[in-house]
Amino acid sequence: MNKTKKPKPQTKTINKMTAEEIKETVKKGYAEVATSPKSCCDASCDCYEPFTGGGETLATSLGYNIENMPKSVTESFAGCGNPVALSNIKENEIVLDLGSGAGLDMFMAAKKVGNKGKVIGVDMTPEMVKKARENAEKLGFKNVEFRLGDIENLPVDDESIDVIISNCVINLTPDKPKTFREAYRVLKPGGRMFVSDIVLEEELPKEVKESIEGYVACVSGALEEQKYLQAIKDAGFEDVTVIDKTKSRYIASDKIRAFKPKNK
Ligand SMILES: C[S@@+](CC[C@H](N)C(=O)[O-])C[C@H]1O[C@@H](n2cnc3c(N)ncnc32)[C@H](O)[C@@H]1O
Repeated sequence: MNKTKKPKPQTKTINKMTAEEIKETVKKGYAEVATSPKSCCDASCDCYEPFTGGGETLATSLGYNIENMPKSVTESFAGCGNPVALSNIKENEIVLDLGSGAGLDMFMAAKKVGNKGKVIGVDMTPEMVKKARENAEKLGFKNVEFRLGDIENLPVDDESIDVIISNCVINLTPDKPKTFREAYRVLKPGGRMFVSDIVLEEELPKEVKESIEGYVACVSGALEEQKYLQAIKDAGFEDVTVIDKTKSRYIASDKIRAFKPKNK
């Protein structure tokens, strides 16, 4: 009889992973959020999720009116703010959501732009895009389009977007400066961007800093606020402002507004 113990599966630390390996792990994590959403994390749940609740509870706590939203939209919501509420989206505008998930922000924006406007969502996780498309169909929205793609290489034309929104996504991209350069490229001159995202308030404990699980949970990939804001400015944005922030242990959820100059 072989008494050798089965070795424990080792998870790689972030510093030993390539950007592509990190993205593949992030995709797997959010495929699960799309297909088997669970409410993480409450006080008894030992995970890295920075804001309690998940899904419906989280959306309500962030001020969303989810009265007529089917469960299939709210159960996979994983934001850390409410960018549509801040963005003063107007009728006929073209809106782009970076990392659109199951579509909650898309549908909120779609109501504001009306039939002559349009809302485009880009997400790299096929299961999320599939779920979001089914949700759009269920809700009867004709002015939304979900595209499978990477926000570091947006499948969107130059200078074609009035407003960019993004909710708890850019911290997950290995190359944040590139993501902001892409956002800048697709915005029309004078266009605006509203981002809710996680930033670091203090140095993370080593085990969290190196953990891929912590990365997928929107913590370990976060930048310090000043570095995050500088990456937005370096992409060419002006009037970069933190409108609001909610702190939670080592991190904060920042609500940030930035503009592409009218005459660039
Ligand atoms: C924390 S969830 C937020 C989803 C949505 N914004 C919401 O508030 O529910 C992060 C989402 O970003 C997507 N994502 C992460 N990195 C991405 C990338 N590089 N390009 C496109 N989508 C990405 C994931 O697939 C996932 O759907």
